[in-house]
Amino acid sequence: MELIDGYDRVATDLRVSLTDRCNLRCQYCMPAEGLDWMPTEETLTDAELIRLIGIGVEILGVRDVRFTGGEPLLRRSLPAIIAATKALPSNPRTAMTSNGLGLKHTAVALAEAGLDRVNISLDTTDPDTFEKITRRNRLHDVIDGLAAAHEAGLTPVKVNAVLLRGINDTEAPDLLRWCLKHGYELRFIEQMPLDAQHGWTREAMVTADETLALLAEHFTLTGLDGRGSAPAEKFLVDGGPHTVGIIGSVTRPFCGDCNRVRLTADGQIRNCLFAREESDLRAALRGGASDDDIARRWAAAMMTKLPGHGIDDPNFLQPTRSMSAIGG
Ligand code: 5AD
Ligand code: SF4
Repeated sequence: MELIDGYDRVATDLRVSLTDRCNLRCQYCMPAEGLDWMPTEETLTDAELIRLIGIGVEILGVRDVRFTGGEPLLRRSLPAIIAATKALPSNPRTAMTSNGLGLKHTAVALAEAGLDRVNISLDTTDPDTFEKITRRNRLHDVIDGLAAAHEAGLTPVKVNAVLLRGINDTEAPDLLRWCLKHGYELRFIEQMPLDAQHGWTREAMVTADETLALLAEHFTLTGLDGRGSAPAEKFLVDGGPHTVGIIGSVTRPFCGDCNRVRLTADGQIRNCLFAREESDLRAALRGGASDDDIARRWAAAMMTKLPGHGIDDPNFLQPTRSMSAIGG
C-alpha cells in the first residue's frame, strides 16, 4: 500500500506532532496568553504513537519521519520515540523541527537515539527583536541549542526564519551573515495564515520576491535548479559554497509536488497543512483495529487531499487548528 492521492502525489514524508504545547509565543503562531492545550487523555501515548509511525513506515511507504510540535522537546520521551522509529526494519530518516530551547542539554542524547538532523526556528539575532516576536527573552538558549546540535552532528543544521514587516524584515541580511558564519543553512519561510488569532494579512506578509530583493542588496544570489518536492528554492550566496533557501509557501506554492502527510498529537491524519478535515486514527486504534485496518483508513484519508492550499481563493478558510497544533 502507498499513500497516494487523487492527483497522483505519493506521501513519503510524515510529520508527527508530539505535543501542541510550546514554551515560546511567536506572534505568527499563538496569542500572548497561549492556547488551551490538548487534554492528556486525548494525546496519543508513546506506544500508540510508535505503532502509528510503524504502520506509516512499514506498510505505507513513509521514508522520512519529522518530529514537530508545538515544541517537540517538551515531550520527555522524545529520545525513546526516536529510538523506536529508528529501530523499524525500514530504517526511515529522522528529523526534528524545534525552537531549540533546551536543545543544549539534549542534542547528544537525541543524536545517540538516532535523530539525523534538525531545523531550528530563529527569526533574528537581536535579543530585543527576539523578545518582540516570541514574547520571551530566550535568544541565548536558541543560540546555545544551535551550537549543540551542530556539535552533536545533527547536520546540516537548518534555520527557519519568518520575516514580519516592520519587525525583523530589515534584519534578514544580518541573520544570513550570522548563519553563514556558523555553518547553518538558513531558509526564509513566507508567513502563512496559520496563527490561532487569525491575524494574517497578505499585506503584512513579506513575500519571497521581497526577501530576495532585501538580500540582493548585500549578497550575490545565484539560483540553483532542482527544487523537486523540497519547498525551498535554493540560492548560492556570493558564488557558494553556502546557500540560502526561500520557501514561498504562499506566492510560490509547491502543492503540486507535495509528498507530505501529518499526524497530530491526538492521532488525526491531516493530508494538508490547510486541510479542513481530518481522519481519526486514534478512535480506530483505541477501538481495537488491526494494523491493516488502520493502514487502509490512513490511505483512504489521502484521497480527499486537495490540489492546493487555495489561499488565493476568495473563499479560503483558515484551518481550525493553528500551526502549533498541526506541526510544521
Ligand atoms: N507561517 C509560516 N511559518 C510558520 N511557522 C510557525 N507559524 C508559521 C506561520 N504562520 C514556522 C516556525 C517553525 C515552523 C514549525 O513553522 O517558525 O520554523
Ligand atoms: Fe512555539 Fe513554534 Fe509556535 Fe513559536 S512557532 S510559538 S516556537 S510552536
